[in-house]
Amino acid sequence: MSTPSVPTPGPKLAAKGITAGYGDVQVLWDITLDIAPGEIVAIVGSNGAGKSTFMRAASGLIPIRSGSLTIDGLDMSRAAPADLVRAGIAHVPEGRRLFSAMSVRDNLLMGAYLRDDKAEVAADLERMFAMFPILKERQSQDAGTLSGGEQQMCAIGRGLMARPGLLMIDELSLGLAPRIVEELSDRLREINRAGLAILLVEQDVIAALELAHRAFVVDRGRVTLSGTAAALSSNPAVREAYMGLA
Ligand SMILES: Nc1ncnc2c1ncn2[C@@H]1O[C@H](COP(=O)(O)OP(=O)(O)OP(=O)(O)O)[C@@H](O)[C@H]1O
Ligand SMILES: [Mg+2]
Repeated sequence: MSTPSVPTPGPKLAAKGITAGYGDVQVLWDITLDIAPGEIVAIVGSNGAGKSTFMRAASGLIPIRSGSLTIDGLDMSRAAPADLVRAGIAHVPEGRRLFSAMSVRDNLLMGAYLRDDKAEVAADLERMFAMFPILKERQSQDAGTLSGGEQQMCAIGRGLMARPGLLMIDELSLGLAPRIVEELSDRLREINRAGLAILLVEQDVIAALELAHRAFVVDRGRVTLSGTAAALSSNPAVREAYMGLA
């Protein structure tokens, strides 16, 4: 397959020694990780390890208490969510968080709320409908009435409508049938080949390591292991603790 031209290569995101939490509870301890342009990186870890908390910190939804977050070398540690969207980071949150009483089409357009290139936004909306034809059929329906798989397509589409260089997806497959997960994974591979970097949190570690180039293992708020997806898939500790394999 030929690679389509990419208008802006994805930004490089680097987290160095990040700590974050909620109130008196510290959840992230000294998290250091990076995502290069065009990469797919997975964050793997048990329930409560801090994966979603990291994504919230990296998208400006909760404050970074110490350490730094840089995008293309620029310090964004104190940036507001809109600044991070402008810097090319889009976040598809755990649970999808669609506007359930708004139409599918309006949910998708919400992803473009910071853009003023109306003609291009309209063209991107058509691209989302081409990528996920069911969303075109359902475009006037309230998002709250979509099936789980359709909601995830809508949430990913909304993220892409910001034209990010890096898409962060929290729990791609949760609650979805294997066939839908395959379809979503295929779409993500295609847009990654076109240049989009992806940071993925995924309960199904086998699926995550199949999709990702590299991964970081987070345990109780700390990065305990990192490496190529191939190396981690053959690491006995990872296989036993996270893949249910001997
Ligand atoms: N809004 C919040 N207020 C207080 N504590 C929170 C809040 N959100 C998360 N936590 C706590 O932070 C810790 C990490 O939660 P987080 O949601 O980041 O984990 P996770 O790795 O995404 O887990 P899961 O795989 O279950 O989604 C947990 O102990 C959780 O109880
Ligand atoms: Mg989570």
